[in-house]
Amino acid sequence: MKRREFLFGSGAAAGALGLGGFGLAAGEQELVVQSASFALRDQVTTGMVSLSPDAPPPVLYGKQGEVIRLPVRNTLPDYTAMHWHGLRIPNGMDGVPYLTQMPIGPGEVFDYEFTPPDAGTYWYHPHCMTMEQMAHGLTGVMVIAEAEDPGFDSEQVVNLRDFRLDDDGSFLPAYTTRGAARAGTFGNVQTANWLNGSIYDHSAGGLVRLRVVNTDTARIYKIHLQGAEARIIAWDGHPVEIEVPMPNAEAPLLVGPGQRVDFAVQMPAGEGQTVDLMAKFPGQPHRAMMRLRATGASVSRDLRELLPLPVNPVTKPDLSKAKMHEFVFGWTPEGGEPTNGFCGSLGANFWSINRKPWPGDAVQRVGPLATLAKGKSYVLRLRNESPNLHPIHLHGLAFLPLKSNQRSLPPLMTDTMLLLKDEVVDIALVADNRGDWAFHCHVIEHQKTGLTGFIRVI
Ligand code: C2O
Ligand code: CU
Ligand code: CU
Repeated sequence: MKRREFLFGSGAAAGALGLGGFGLAAGEQELVVQSASFALRDQVTTGMVSLSPDAPPPVLYGKQGEVIRLPVRNTLPDYTAMHWHGLRIPNGMDGVPYLTQMPIGPGEVFDYEFTPPDAGTYWYHPHCMTMEQMAHGLTGVMVIAEAEDPGFDSEQVVNLRDFRLDDDGSFLPAYTTRGAARAGTFGNVQTANWLNGSIYDHSAGGLVRLRVVNTDTARIYKIHLQGAEARIIAWDGHPVEIEVPMPNAEAPLLVGPGQRVDFAVQMPAGEGQTVDLMAKFPGQPHRAMMRLRATGASVSRDLRELLPLPVNPVTKPDLSKAKMHEFVFGWTPEGGEPTNGFCGSLGANFWSINRKPWPGDAVQRVGPLATLAKGKSYVLRLRNESPNLHPIHLHGLAFLPLKSNQRSLPPLMTDTMLLLKDEVVDIALVADNRGDWAFHCHVIEHQKTGLTGFIRVI
């Protein structure tokens, strides 16, 4: 972790759908999990997994407080299950095999139906055969619109992710044992909405809501915007209620797998001028992942016209009454063979929570890591005892970072906390959603080689 990298709280920082044609109003049609082909670079890559035969998983749209119906039909020869990352919905709709539902078998349909309580930028991905299906493409963005229109001229969704391809465009193995035991296995083709350096037109001088989502299986993206007047307005779905500094080339923002950042962007006034979403990859100069291009005569909007986004109805924890639970994330002392359920095993354990690797999805009678009483406040101490970074994700609940042993953390509500090397972070939450909630690292190789468990709210 270099000093110059920007992270919330690091030393440095003590309408138009505009989707490039792949938006889908939620509930209008069944989501069909299927194999797909797409030219991720010059050649067509086959054996991808998506919701249509020749396009990325669409952006799904819902509205805060309104019911969404998403029947998921599985046409793959493998099992699947769909998870709605970050949404605080009933446990039975959370899409985690064995914990909240049985896997969806080939030819089967599971009817997901829920009412998102929070607005913001979320995403969806399978939680069964997770490594294979995510690595082959099945990660999509889900936008939950505010009950009241926050006043943008347009919006742009950016789904950032890598693919691991051979020179002929075919998939390389999704992971390596070496990667799984360390920082993860990185792709070699970096994309935004499955494309490379695509350009999206938005009104000159207009206000664009840019929703950036890292749906990668391993990479921590280091991003900043170039050529824009912009502000960070939401982090991991939830409105940012304080002023946070904008990242730049010297101090890019770290967005871990599973994390999201929303920018309010004021488009340049001159037709043809661009705003670039830049990313930094090891050993390379900053590179534009995608570009917003100003079109037409300026509509002359101003960032200052935007009201703050309405706060989501997340109950703030009462720290005076909060009980503490500690979780240690590290290597596994015992290694051992994970049991292979229907839902895929990588055949080894390298990682653990509280020194126990997750024994496998289908194993019966595995207890929760902690049991919380509904409605009570808790502090969870997250202790990273490894040199690798871990985006730690908790389903079904939102939490507030309180403090770190390495940096000052602004209180930005989240569902995914990126733990740095040897970092210890206290988070606080109200256990206000009943059920068994998966709790794992979002580097999928870590998740699938032991760094998984669940927290029970009763
Ligand atoms: Cu986005 Cu259990 O994960
Ligand atoms: Cu999740
Ligand atoms: Cu991890």
